Amino acid sequence: MDKFNSNQKIKDIVTKFPKAAEVFKKFKIDFCCGGDRPLIVAINNQDLDEEEILDSLNTIYENFANNKTNKSNKSKDWTSIPFTDLIDHIVNKHHAYLYENLPLISELLTKTLRAHGASHQELQEVYKLFHMLKMELDSHLIKEETVQYPAIEKYEKSKSIVDLEQAIQVSKELETEHTEAGDILKKLRKITNEYIIPADACNTYKSAYEKLEDLESDLFEHIHLENNILFPRLYSLKK
Ligand SMILES: [Fe+2]
Ligand SMILES: [Fe+2]
Repeated sequence: MDKFNSNQKIKDIVTKFPKAAEVFKKFKIDFCCGGDRPLIVAINNQDLDEEEILDSLNTIYENFANNKTNKSNKSKDWTSIPFTDLIDHIVNKHHAYLYENLPLISELLTKTLRAHGASHQELQEVYKLFHMLKMELDSHLIKEETVQYPAIEKYEKSKSIVDLEQAIQVSKELETEHTEAGDILKKLRKITNEYIIPADACNTYKSAYEKLEDLESDLFEHIHLENNILFPRLYSLKK
């Protein structure tokens, strides 16, 4: 493969090489809802060093390609595997992650707000934003599992245009919900000052912030798989 360049779209880089997500996370480049932009646009907007980012991307790619274990155990190509396999992966990895961690973070944040809310005013907002996100995700996951994914699986069997159109219509709604979730994550990152743990934080506080940052990371990968791979694959079938 040729080297990565900054005129490529962010989502295309992550689709071709999923490990690129590590670099984008490090430099806080949004690759899920903001993935439909050439890399250079994000670099300029965020005042980042183009050379440093391209070097990081190309270095981890070369290391990955040269590693014999990776050669024999290639990661799955999400752009061509059956829809049902991609959906299974999303549900088993990313939905399962949310089912486990959303209630846990809620509990940690409730305790943290009670113990530290008086001395850390921002915790009120963190608490509210997180629960808004949780509420949206709870219904979003249900919509995906009971409406969207079954519609895709129905289309995969029937190949009927009516089934495809149904699946596409739901995708548009889900994309809007992804953008809303992404906006809340941006606000959370800002209000927590990039998840920096205050010096007087107890273990619960620390754990709440660590888990919140982890949630952001997992959601970015999850939304990337849907917005940039699963849904565009459906749209391309209609052409
Ligand atoms: Fe999902
Ligand atoms: Fe989703």
